[in-house]
Amino acid sequence: MYRWVVGPAYVRYVSYADALGKFDAVDKTCYTLCRMDKFNFIDLFAGIGGIRIPFENLGGTCVFSSEWNKHAQETYAHNFGEIPAGDITKIDEAEIPDHDILLAGFPCQPFSIIGDKQGFEDTRGTLFFDIIRILKEKQPSAFLLENVKQLLTHDKGQTFAVIQEQLARLGYTTYHKVLNALDFGLPQKRERIFIIGFHEPIAFEFPKPIGPYKPLSEILEPDEDVEPNLFASERIQQSRREKCKGTPFSPSIWHENKGGNISVLPFSCALRAGASYNYLLVNGVRRLSGREMLRLQGFPEDFKITGNMMQIRKQTGNSVAIPVVHAIAKKMLQALEQRKPMIQPEEQLLLFENRINAYA
Ligand SMILES: C[S@@+](CC[C@H](N)C(=O)[O-])C[C@H]1O[C@@H](n2cnc3c(N)ncnc32)[C@H](O)[C@@H]1O
Repeated sequence: MYRWVVGPAYVRYVSYADALGKFDAVDKTCYTLCRMDKFNFIDLFAGIGGIRIPFENLGGTCVFSSEWNKHAQETYAHNFGEIPAGDITKIDEAEIPDHDILLAGFPCQPFSIIGDKQGFEDTRGTLFFDIIRILKEKQPSAFLLENVKQLLTHDKGQTFAVIQEQLARLGYTTYHKVLNALDFGLPQKRERIFIIGFHEPIAFEFPKPIGPYKPLSEILEPDEDVEPNLFASERIQQSRREKCKGTPFSPSIWHENKGGNISVLPFSCALRAGASYNYLLVNGVRRLSGREMLRLQGFPEDFKITGNMMQIRKQTGNSVAIPVVHAIAKKMLQALEQRKPMIQPEEQLLLFENRINAYA
């Protein structure tokens, strides 16, 4: 049986059988797949593909990826069978394949250059400019950008205002929100800003928190199964015990903050690419294994780990909480399919006033 469906950028003909097959195999909870079973996306600043995984799981096909770090490229190639293109600043936007959705967890590079002035040229020299020039050329139906939450407040909000202005100039309607991985089932406090854009002025809602996070017991490996070199020295363990406030419990993650204070938590603080070696210690005695760090970001168990511990820490710390991106991706696909018009602020005010009047 066939029917017409509206995809993100086109009207297509799909078979119910195909769509339902994918629906069952991939994500039973996402009924949008019955209608939006195929779309293309590009994966910029791809890292190890944390943003790619949920979009693929929801039926998308990656048609282009870019990542210049050779260790991350290696991990990406092992897991997705393709080596991402290198430096995005050297890639001609016209050569990038057409796509429906652009994905970019762009580096939290210094943004000072953006905050200084206003206008399209402000971002030249920053990697955000590369996103802008690709959006301008390819005009995908939607995009997802991810960054640290400090992007909102950088330069007293000026930087973010310029980013929003530039996306609006390209005709995109944008939505943004800071989401925390703890609210999406992972025992990791990781707050990140997500900026979602649509080429048409359609309505979009960010996903709501899904409930309690997994206990650490489902993330941590038994001590005897991890590499002995992950254990901190007796001196470090001792100093952690001395600085620890309250009664320690297990399993726990001991977090060292900037001031050197130790908190004992039932979840991990955000994995960070450049954090000090013993910033997080499992039960105050050892560092996290590669598999544990991937689990804290919600990667599938069959995700292959390559490279040394330093690279794994960097790659997982740079990556994303997959369940958060998955929840947003589902909402984006629903929004693209339903194409409900966005309610303008004035209309919202009118609706609100009407409701108040109705009760007066
Ligand atoms: C915040 S990380 C994104 C990680 C990714 N979302 C993931 O799930 O692993 C930013 C990535 O951009 C890459 N990058 C930085 N400058 C780049 C450039 N000029 N061209 C391509 N990749 C670049 C970095 O190597 C890093 O892996």
